[in-house]
Amino acid sequence: MSDLQIGVFDSGLGGLTAVRELMQILPGENIVYFGDTARVPYGTRSRDMIRTFAKQDLRFLLEKNLKAVLVACGTISSVALPDLRGMTDVPVIGVVEPTAAAACKATRKGKIGILGTSATVKSQSYHRAIEAIDPNIEVFAQACPLFVPLVENGYLTGDLVELAAKEYIAPLQEVGVDTVILGCTHYPLLKPVLSRLFGSGVTLIDSGREAALALAETLKEQNALSSAAEGTRRYYVSDEVSNFSHIAGMFLDRNIDGETEKVTLRTDG
Ligand code: DGL
Repeated sequence: MSDLQIGVFDSGLGGLTAVRELMQILPGENIVYFGDTARVPYGTRSRDMIRTFAKQDLRFLLEKNLKAVLVACGTISSVALPDLRGMTDVPVIGVVEPTAAAACKATRKGKIGILGTSATVKSQSYHRAIEAIDPNIEVFAQACPLFVPLVENGYLTGDLVELAAKEYIAPLQEVGVDTVILGCTHYPLLKPVLSRLFGSGVTLIDSGREAALALAETLKEQNALSSAAEGTRRYYVSDEVSNFSHIAGMFLDRNIDGETEKVTLRTDG
């Protein structure tokens, strides 16, 4: 049992898809979240830049007395996980492996589609993770660079989202995937539109959810779960609080204004 905190981070709002899941499955856990809203998006940046940003993000969270870290970002999980694991002794869980495992379990025809950021798709992280589980599964990936800016600006439904989504999912529909990984944690915020466009024959796998389930499993194994009935939540962002807390509040279905604070990240070293 432990009253330490779970640190969760992302480039912006996306990691909240993991936080929402964590609050449901482990309501007694104390959660501290960091969203690097001043520098989002990460997914269109170079590998080196993403690794540098990710290390600075984690350095901030490691000041908070953590018992585990959830890297609730497909992009960071794809390119920087070994760097982050080298910074701390607490478990650092990424989204790629647990999400790939869930997709392999779900597919019936052995055809999995991946929607992710440009950096995630370029890294081939999901291809490798799926191949390690079942080399016979066919994998088709599509980068969706417009999705993160849409979500960060509060466009979760409507014509703009529909237009971008139709364009991005068409190649996956053409090859007949039956399972699609929402490989960026921002994308589950667009799930109502995506699941309608894909239709009921396609199973969508939410990377934020799968990572949260994997983290819960790890804490259970380590006997590190909190004994509290209701945990505390604290959200930190690197830019304006109001934009984040407004959209986050809608998604989490609670007002988080009083729990959200702007911080300045150390960017030296
Ligand atoms: N939520 C991040 C991910 O899962 C978004 C990356 C970005 O900022 O582009 O990839």
